[in-house]
Amino acid sequence: MKQKLEEIRARAREELGSVSELSELENFRVRVLGKKGELTGILKSMGGLSAEERPKMGQLANEVRQNIEKMLADKIEELKAREVQREIESMPVFDISVPMDTAQGSYHPITLVQRQCEAVFKSMGFAVEEYSEIVTDYECFEALNIPKDHPARDMQDTYYLENGQLLKSHTSAAQNAIYKKYRDALVNEGKPIKAIFPGRCFRNEATDACHENTFFQMEGVMVDKNISISNLIYFMKTMLSEVFQKDIQVRLRPGFFPFVEPGFELDISCLICGGEGCASCKHSGWLELCPCGMIHPEVLKAGGIDPEEYTGFAFGLGLTRLAMMKYGVKDIRDLNSGSLKALSQFTEDE
Ligand code: DAH
Repeated sequence: MKQKLEEIRARAREELGSVSELSELENFRVRVLGKKGELTGILKSMGGLSAEERPKMGQLANEVRQNIEKMLADKIEELKAREVQREIESMPVFDISVPMDTAQGSYHPITLVQRQCEAVFKSMGFAVEEYSEIVTDYECFEALNIPKDHPARDMQDTYYLENGQLLKSHTSAAQNAIYKKYRDALVNEGKPIKAIFPGRCFRNEATDACHENTFFQMEGVMVDKNISISNLIYFMKTMLSEVFQKDIQVRLRPGFFPFVEPGFELDISCLICGGEGCASCKHSGWLELCPCGMIHPEVLKAGGIDPEEYTGFAFGLGLTRLAMMKYGVKDIRDLNSGSLKALSQFTEDE
């Protein structure tokens, strides 16, 4: 038996010496140390030994077992270290001495579109506001004339926090805070409210090439005395012509949103065919781009503004959609993928 144990130890050493893959070690462990393994088999047969020999063999068997376990553990360490080394060696080599201008990253297409829009609106006197991604039910819905149980909530199912707050499902959620922030200047100093607020929005949606649970919008509002639909059309047309760097025609179709009255869907003349009709615009000559409307009196009231005295327009531009149109992105999921391969196709120098 002693000889057998020594043999097992010697063979284990030899075998482990030639193993080069971690996956082979598990087979080895089962074969030698496992319940039905060689060593266990010998331990089981010890019952047949004399009372004198049994403790000696027992001690030796334990020693052999500990030896083999240690060899196995060392081998695992060694192979893991080798695997890490292999991984490191297969990584692209970064030359830290390469000058910055050839090793720069690029802006995300949505950032580019957002900045272009911001620049245009700033030049027209709009303030750019930031707003939180976590909002209250009041901000996201109630203050926008969407009471509890209103069917319009179905379209905007989002993610809720345990404390009842939620991830905003549209940038309109910032409207109430903006009215409250600027109403004193409006009422006391006669300064119109002109603000845009870009932001990330969330919806509980199944994703596909056209739907994402995380996307970007840019909301805009203007409130003053005598603001009309003509102002809305003018601002939208100017902004979009700047963004697309060509003269854009716009048209309004009726659209329903509880926080505007009247509400519209704003279409732009097709960017591909210029309005003559092509496959991109389904031969209509128009592309649906931006919902908008005249701010509902209840929404102004909730923001502390007297709707008898002031009127305004609001729009919710889909920045993600705009970026897709501008850069020809076919699958919306590419935008949040973090994949440089996908994103670098769409970026341009700023
Ligand atoms: N918040 C709306 C949505 O995400 C879009 C919208 C429609 C915004 C009309 C507006 C508006 O400001 O006037 O579905």
